[in-house]
Amino acid sequence: PKYTIVDKDTCIACGACGAAAPDVYDYDDEGLAEVVIDDNTGTAAVDGVLEDDVIDAHLGCPTDSIKISDKPFDGEPLKYE
Ligand code: F3S
Repeated sequence: PKYTIVDKDTCIACGACGAAAPDVYDYDDEGLAEVVIDDNTGTAAVDGVLEDDVIDAHLGCPTDSIKISDKPFDGEPLKYE
């Protein structure tokens, strides 16, 4: 399974991730991205059919704020860095 989380400390609200994976990422009131499937905790496995979209979002983020892992993030975007 794949897990994903947004590092909101580095997101610049560019909007690319929500375009690449609209079923996974949305934006808060400030335009910062967040994962909608688990309240941006990185604890819910991404639906398999959405994994390619999540990888596209990861590759397309200009600030490397879209994190992906095979293990849950437990709310910590930098857990595996
Ligand atoms: Fe932010 Fe990157 Fe998405 S800058 S809006 S997390 S593409």
